[in-house]
Formats: sequence, structure tokens, C-alpha cells
Amino acid sequence: CGIVGYTGNKEAYPIVIKGLKRLEYRGYDSAGIALHQGDSLQVYKKAGKVAMLEESVLGENLHAFTAIGHTRWATHGEPSDKNAHPHISPSGDIAMIHNGIIENYDAIKRDLIAKGYLFKSDTDTEVLLYFIEDIKIHNQCSLEEAIRIALKRVVGAYVILLIEKSAPDTIIAARKGSPLVIGIGKGAHYLGSDASPMLAYTKEVVYINDYELAIVRPDELILKNFGNERITPFVQQLDLDLAAIEKGGYEHFMLKEIFEQPQTIYDSLRGRLSLNPAQLTLSGITQFGNELSQAKRIVILACGTSWHAALWAEYIIEELCRIQVEVDYASEYRYRNPIIEKGDVIIAISQSGETADTLVALEKAKQQGAIILGVVNAVGSSIARLSDAGAYTHAGPEIGVASTKAFTAQLTVLHLIALKIAELKGSITAEKFTQQLTELAAIPEKVQQILSTQHEKIKLIAKKYKDAKDFLFLGRGYSFPIALEGALKLKEISYIHAEGYPAAEMKHGPIALVDEHLPVVFIATKDFYHEKIMSNMQEIRARKGQVLAIVTEGDELSKEIAQDYIEIPAADEMLSPILSTIPLQLLSYYIGVELGLDVDKPRNLAKSVTVE
Ligand code: G6P
Repeated sequence: CGIVGYTGNKEAYPIVIKGLKRLEYRGYDSAGIALHQGDSLQVYKKAGKVAMLEESVLGENLHAFTAIGHTRWATHGEPSDKNAHPHISPSGDIAMIHNGIIENYDAIKRDLIAKGYLFKSDTDTEVLLYFIEDIKIHNQCSLEEAIRIALKRVVGAYVILLIEKSAPDTIIAARKGSPLVIGIGKGAHYLGSDASPMLAYTKEVVYINDYELAIVRPDELILKNFGNERITPFVQQLDLDLAAIEKGGYEHFMLKEIFEQPQTIYDSLRGRLSLNPAQLTLSGITQFGNELSQAKRIVILACGTSWHAALWAEYIIEELCRIQVEVDYASEYRYRNPIIEKGDVIIAISQSGETADTLVALEKAKQQGAIILGVVNAVGSSIARLSDAGAYTHAGPEIGVASTKAFTAQLTVLHLIALKIAELKGSITAEKFTQQLTELAAIPEKVQQILSTQHEKIKLIAKKYKDAKDFLFLGRGYSFPIALEGALKLKEISYIHAEGYPAAEMKHGPIALVDEHLPVVFIATKDFYHEKIMSNMQEIRARKGQVLAIVTEGDELSKEIAQDYIEIPAADEMLSPILSTIPLQLLSYYIGVELGLDVDKPRNLAKSVTVE
């Protein structure tokens, strides 16, 4: 979910609505706003996207200087008007929004029902709000104190924002496990799940930490820990441009972000890689040079697309560094009883830096003494702050819900990390090191070439295949994780069922699906496996499947086998997967567009999943 708050000397409604639109990538099942109108709290909420909320309040009195707003990704309770936030307390005196999950809400709810409370929604949020108000009345204390007491009993992850009738210019916020940023303006404060809602107004922000509570007024920001002790807010300067979070003439953020990749990959190399002589500067990694070169094992934790980057990194690190790598879904790792041995190093990969499963898995590993290296895109995010060191991916804000440029930046940075470890460890020759850096430096231009030369062709291919019911994506070796990512992208954007598989494994099951209706996408670029992948393509053709292949320029043989092909420039076999990713992103994008779907905000998804 996304949360926004404003208190200051300007009209709050337009600021909060604009802020919610910036945060829609975090969820868009329903939206709502609570306005403090002097002697009353006015709440408007609606199932659907923020635009529907906006439409539904046309003509209403929206005048207020303090407001909170929410865009929801449903956890407890279906997306509906009644389950949308903000919720109102039984007395009508307090409005609250919440991002996260209250795990023990059921027990608290039962207690409250026994006391005679009636609930209007199915949400855990309403339970927490009623609980807070019940404490406030019972203890005859301030709202701030009641929140503190309530949160001691609550199990879960949350950011909550509350406004109260008797305090017209005050927002109270508390955080544990979900992100919260407070922007400092002139006679105003802005609150958000990330900095994008406040970017147009201020660049001075405070990232709130877990177990912190903020009392926010136009001219005052009081920060306390849950023990009621004052903390001095640490004000940081945002290094972010408004243009970076706007569409800039593209039809969709996803398309913009796909086309940004020559620049974003370059940005992830900038200041790190230099040639003549070949040099690689990664201070965050070098800092743990001893631990890394002696590491017996590296464990990589991630979710979703970032997990695919992790899987790819396993191949690269094992090859270049000769260190055993284990890749795990953070959601599985956190509940397993994983073995962490002295000297194990954890790499965490996350675009948002806020994924709850990843964050908790890392906390667990950290408690057991592991070193955490973060490969994170969102600067200042929770995972970045929890990491001992790392390397930012520098892809800039990614708004399209399906990850594109963040993924290729992850691959780039992971490759740099592998090379750095190999250099520190001495497991790579100077010649190979130079060759790898030279190849990496050429990647942005090759990505540009694919975008310029293949883009129109992919549009036509998308038209041809858009009505398929299933897709299979196959690759081997370094390209296998890319096949998984290709399938995931298509699923997310087009709602077409797609599976990624190691090409050789295909004969142990998925081959049963093959008939003339099944498009099979092969990553068939020239590498060590090329001959074998050509045989796999023949096996599909022999069963009347339709083969769409990503091939290396000039590979006439592969072009002949496939019904359709997309050519990409030749590259080192370890790096070629970065290039193969580009046509697969465009294929999903254009199929989604052809089907008339909302590619930037596919149904049911959220960009940053801060619940487990
Ligand atoms: C969500 C997004 C995915 C993303 C995953 C992990 O499910 O929709 O695109 O890959 O979370 O997110 P992270 O921010 O940790 O990379």
C-alpha cells in the first residue's frame, strides 16, 4: 500500500491526491483520503484506482490544511469501498491509514467484540484503530500515548498515520517494518511511503526507522522511540529529479523504463569501471575484501524478478570466483532453519529495498552473524540501511510495476561484484578481467542497438502471438534465469500463462504441452550451449510447436530453425543474457498493449510488497 500525509499552509487535498498517484505502483485496489476540516473529519474512499476516488469527490468541499491518503493493496478483506482506508474510530474522532499487516488482529478483534464493538470492515486496520481508541478512552490518555500502548501489543509490520478531530494540524505516524519518509517544507511537512509524493516541494527528508513515532505539525517534527524518548531527526538531501518519476512523452512508464536501459546500465557502471588500464572500484565490496575472498559460501536472498537476478549471479560468481553460491527465496529462507556458518556472506537483492520477506530474512541472517551486502535500487531504503555494505544499482526510480531497468541494472552490478571478488581473490587472470570489463563497457551501446533495430519487429511478433493461451520460455546456462524472467514478465503484463524452464529439462515434462498452439521462446544466442539449444529447438519444431528465438546476429542456422527470430548483437556469453532480456521485455509489453491491458499497473500486483 501507499500512504501520504500533509500538514501545512496550503490546500492539502491536491497535494495528497498527487502524492497517491505517485505511489499507486505500491497498490491500486482502492484509495481514500481523510481531510481535517476544522471541527470535523471528512473521509472519502472508493474501490479502484486513485482516479476513481478523484472522480467521486467532484463538487465536494475538499478544503483542508491537514490530510492523510491511502492507496491499497488488499491483504485482509476484498478491495471494496468499505475496506478502503482511511478508517474512522467508533467515536468518529480519529481517522487512520495503514500499510502492512497486523498478524494478531483476530485475538484483539475478539476482545473488542466482547466489549461490544461493531466493525464496519473486514480489515486488520480497523481493529488496530478501535483498539487504540479503546485504550485512549479507558486510560484517559492522549492519542500519542494510546498508540504507544497499543503498538506494544501488536504483532506485525506497519506504518500508520492518524489524525484526530481535536488536533487540526497534527498527524501522528508510527513505523515498524514498512517504509515512511517525512519531507520538510516551509511551514509544512509531507509524509509518504517513499519520497516521490514530496519531490515537487522539498528535497529535505527524514527516513523514519522501525519503532519510531512522529508527531508532525506544519512547523514541528517531533520524533520519539516507542519508549517515549526524543530522537533528533536525521535530515538528508534527496538526490532525485522530478523528471525521473514522470512519463516524459512515453505512453507508459514501462516503455520509458525499457528505453532508458542504455543509460541506466551505463549509470550502474559509471564511476566504477574504467579501461586502459582496466580498473574496477566498488568500495562497498572492497571494504569486506578479506571476508569475501575467504568466504566458503555466498547466500543470495531475493524475491520475484530480483530472485532471477540472484539465480543468474549464482552462475557468474561460481564461474568467476569459485565460491559456492546458494540462492534462496527470502520468503522460504525466513521460515526455514537455515544453516549459517562463520564466514558466510549474504547478498540481498531488491529493487525497492522494502520487500518485507527479504527484509526479515536478512534480519534473521544478521542476527546469526552473517555479513550482509545489499544490491539495492532505492537509495536510503530499509534493506540498504540494514546492509553492512553493498552497491546501489543506480537505475533511478522504477514506476512500472513489472521490473525492467532495475533488473538489467541488477545483472550489471552483480557482474561487477563477481569480478571484484574474483580480483580480490585472485581467481581471475588479468587478461580475462580486462576482457570482461571491456565487454561490460560495450553493453549500453548494444542495448541501444537492440532497441533501435528490433523494436518495430517485436511489435509485429507481439501481434502474431497475442492470442496464445500459454507460452514456454527456454534457456540454458547463463540464459536459464533469463527464460524464467521472460515468462514472469509475460505473466505479469499480459495475464497469459507462461513457464520458464531449463531447455534440457523441457523433455522431462513440459514437452507434453507442445502442439501447434504453443509458442516456445528460446534464448538461442551463441554460447557454449548453442549446439544443444539448436537441438532443443528442433525437438519443438518436430512436434509442431512454434519457435520464437532470440539469436545472435548473423546466426543463419538458428534463424532457419525458428519461425520467428529477434537478433541481438554478439557479446560475451556471460553478459549476453543482459541483451536477451531486452527483447523479452518488449515482447511482454507489446502483447499487453495489444490486449488492451494496463501494463503499468497489472491487476493484483504491487511493486513494493511490504507484507509477507
Ligand atoms: C514485487 C514486484 C516484483 C519484484 C518483487 C521483489 O512482487 O511486483 O516486480 O520483483 O516484488 O521486489 P524487490 O523490490 O525486492 O526487488
